[in-house]
Amino acid sequence: MALAGLTLAVLTITVHLCFVFTSSSPPVCPANAHHFDRTAYHFQPAKNWQNGPVYYNGMYHLFYQYNPHGALWDTGNLSWGHSVSGDLVNWAALDNALDPTAPFDANGCASGSVTILADGLPVIMYSGIDAQRRQVQNIAFPKNPHDPLLREWTKTKYNPVVSVPADVSPDSFRDPTTAWRGRDGAWRFAVSAVSNGVGATLVYRSRDFLRWERNAAPLHASRGDKVMAECPDLFPVTERGQLHGVRHVLKLSMPDTLEDYYMVGVYDDTDDTFTVPPEDLAAGGFDYRRWRRIDHGHLYASKTFFDAIKNRRVLWAWVNESDSEADDVAKGWSGLQSFPRVVWLDESGKQLVQWPVEEIETLRRKRGVLLGGGNEVEAGGLREIGGIAAATQADVEVVFEIASLAGAERLETERLHDPDALCREKGAAVRGGIGPFGLLVMASGDLREHTAVFFRVFRVPHGYTVLMCTDLTRSSTRSGVYKPTHGGFVDIDIEKDKAVSLRTLIDHSIVESYGGGGRICMTARVYPEHVETSRSYLYVFNNASNVVKVSKLDAWELAMASVNVGDDGLISGGSVCDVVEL
Ligand SMILES: *[C@@H]1O[C@H](CO)[C@@H](O)[C@H](O)[C@H]1NC(C)=O
Ligand SMILES: *[C@@H]1O[C@H](CO)[C@@H](O)[C@H](O)[C@H]1NC(C)=O
Ligand SMILES: *[C@@H]1O[C@H](CO)[C@@H](O)[C@H](O)[C@H]1NC(C)=O
Repeated sequence: MALAGLTLAVLTITVHLCFVFTSSSPPVCPANAHHFDRTAYHFQPAKNWQNGPVYYNGMYHLFYQYNPHGALWDTGNLSWGHSVSGDLVNWAALDNALDPTAPFDANGCASGSVTILADGLPVIMYSGIDAQRRQVQNIAFPKNPHDPLLREWTKTKYNPVVSVPADVSPDSFRDPTTAWRGRDGAWRFAVSAVSNGVGATLVYRSRDFLRWERNAAPLHASRGDKVMAECPDLFPVTERGQLHGVRHVLKLSMPDTLEDYYMVGVYDDTDDTFTVPPEDLAAGGFDYRRWRRIDHGHLYASKTFFDAIKNRRVLWAWVNESDSEADDVAKGWSGLQSFPRVVWLDESGKQLVQWPVEEIETLRRKRGVLLGGGNEVEAGGLREIGGIAAATQADVEVVFEIASLAGAERLETERLHDPDALCREKGAAVRGGIGPFGLLVMASGDLREHTAVFFRVFRVPHGYTVLMCTDLTRSSTRSGVYKPTHGGFVDIDIEKDKAVSLRTLIDHSIVESYGGGGRICMTARVYPEHVETSRSYLYVFNNASNVVKVSKLDAWELAMASVNVGDDGLISGGSVCDVVEL
């Protein structure tokens, strides 16, 4: 309780880091075909590789990993790009906040976080890759704290403030979290490490933010696993609008699977430990692979920050490309940010609920309607959502009502462990009992290309379960693109609700879906070819054996946000090769 209050005072932004070593390539003019993939309202820099997000003094700041020299990851010149926004939707790019200029970051300014100190001064803590290629923790302060844009940063002469400990691998010690204060008044931050050959999240404490001491126990250690989690995040959560019953979420990003996992537990600032309830421990409390997923699709290195203005916690994540590196070089950019999401704890106290920040509504223009009359979609039916011209830029929420669960297919308990496989086997074209029904997005007129986001209800020994899938197998006719099937179970009581909701944000090459009111999220990258020559369609489909009712449809065409366009020195100052057509 007391902790939550303290953490509320800490505002952040963050940068993500994922190590992918590639050789740098010469700049190439973007091939014309590829600008269709560029998003309209998702954050991405004008060009090049990026990932990672803060809020300070009336302005949201997004810092991100940026390679000034190419579209691909290159640790050699890794910098901190910087953009600012008043509404989390429109962004202006500023000059880099950090560049690798000092012995303690000569080989790159990797990921880190921002903390607002007690006197209101922001401080960046980041992992530098030093001249000996060791990972160390450094800090930087604004050169002029009165500059609302925080344009220039000064690295302190005390860097590195934390060097690699003897038991930690020098190449595995990075991604410091936003710092928080315990009841004893001391600051803490957590950082990922491989300590004595085991992946661990270490905690450091300090009274002055300069001299740090490591806590004896790690916050979390994987049992004997050498894989180091990246971008740890620890934050307090409450049920929406409630201030009692504070719990904490520990989130880890696993580079072996490129997936983000979290667990709801209790953080104790006396010994800086994180514990999970006994029933969750039984379900594999220390094995992150059995934790919950932040997103069941293509999303990594998520980080949250507390937005004091709107009293909400906001999550951002990096969404990697699914085309080839050659495509990225040709496009001149790669990677984007998920649309910012508010996160809170659901009533059960066990899982997070995520929902796009309300500011997205400022982009809503034309409203979509279900064509063809009535709100029922018959078995085998396909109904177009019309009235919106740009089905490539839309925000759609639909509630499906199911009259009876009688026709649900049976599912063996062991099938519950691999929802991806289940979605692969039972795709949108496989007729079922209750489901599949859902949305067909980014569909070509002849349906040769489409991405299906849908549900299927199964009967299981203890009741019913709802599977959600995003099927990318027919998303593009282009080869060399990763077209998986993503799946996950929606934690809702379908017997009681008799309805399930789906909200999908469509933005050219990204499809982000929220099932069951945000209890499950699924992000996907798509690269359809039809958009180069023709329009895209949006449909509701039903391949179940009974009618499904659309009891609510809230579909909108979205306007293009202003993202790093204009006098930011990135587009206008570049050569013709830098011009990215939006
Ligand atoms: C970093 O950028 C400089 C040019 O500013 C270039 O000479 C150098 O090769 C780059 N380093 C790496 C590792 O690519
Ligand atoms: C990006 O995603 C692809 C899957 O599409 C994966 O194979 C690749 O390793 C990812 N790249 C990075 C830099 O994480
Ligand atoms: C629905 O099922 C039919 C028959 O299997 C199939 O032809 C059609 O493509 C399916 N619809 C979708 C959206 O997959």
